[in-house]
Amino acid sequence: MNDLTASQPIDEAIAEIKRRSAVRPTVGIVLGSGLSELADEVPGADIIPTGEIPHWPGSTVHGHKGRLVLGRLENRDVLLLQGRSHYYEGFNMQQITFPVRVMHRLGIGTYVVTNAAGGLNPDFAVGDLMVIKDHINMPGLAGENPLRGPNDDAVGPRFPDMTHAYDPALRRLAQRVAAEAGFSLREGIYCFVGGPSYETPAELRLLKVAGGDAVGMSTVPEVIVACHSGMRVLGISSITNQAHLEPDEHAVVSHEEVLEAGKLIIPRLKALIHGVLSAMDS
Ligand code: HPA
Repeated sequence: MNDLTASQPIDEAIAEIKRRSAVRPTVGIVLGSGLSELADEVPGADIIPTGEIPHWPGSTVHGHKGRLVLGRLENRDVLLLQGRSHYYEGFNMQQITFPVRVMHRLGIGTYVVTNAAGGLNPDFAVGDLMVIKDHINMPGLAGENPLRGPNDDAVGPRFPDMTHAYDPALRRLAQRVAAEAGFSLREGIYCFVGGPSYETPAELRLLKVAGGDAVGMSTVPEVIVACHSGMRVLGISSITNQAHLEPDEHAVVSHEEVLEAGKLIIPRLKALIHGVLSAMDS
């Protein structure tokens, strides 16, 4: 298989994007499960199906469209990704983080990532939004890290620091925007699990004692690659279901529930993204 961290595949993907759009984005926004319609906010956008971009991993999941949307939002040139690829689909870590490497090389300095997540924190309710302040990378702790392999020192260091992976200033700004818009924004630690099976009650209790507030199947590998290359990251989880830490025969989690809850969250997520884009530094 191609080395997707090498210049050639990244440059080939960029050449196709530049051929199809004159927009030169500085902000990249990844739309998670059920959150795709945020892209409707970009009028007259250039739309590129990701299947037409060389080397781009395809999305196979219902609720994930697989398109790049390039245009202007709040006076900024932005790139929205509808439909990311996930590790549980069978893609490897290099494949799922290829879009981040392309965005970095395109000149994007701010990576805004959204996802659907299960709430581990008992104070969280379905429909809450949570700004991510830190993460726990379960597959990563066992060795599945997207930076494993040769390091390109021109992109970032061999051993990148992750203390401030989620930019503190962007987190504060997100809190201010939410307060001004009149809704509360949770803050917490996101646990990345490989999926696709949802967690057992015992696994959920493990993640909770480890300090996790929310659990999901994406985001963290992307954030590691973004942080390694020096991008500023803002991560937002939509809490689409409550994780059941005790076995309960009536409590089950389904992908449909996750997509439905995603819809409830969209108006607040839109307000948050608009507010952050209009107020953040370049
Ligand atoms: N677990 C893992 N991933 C998820 C969940 C969950 O409960 N909800 C949405 N994505």
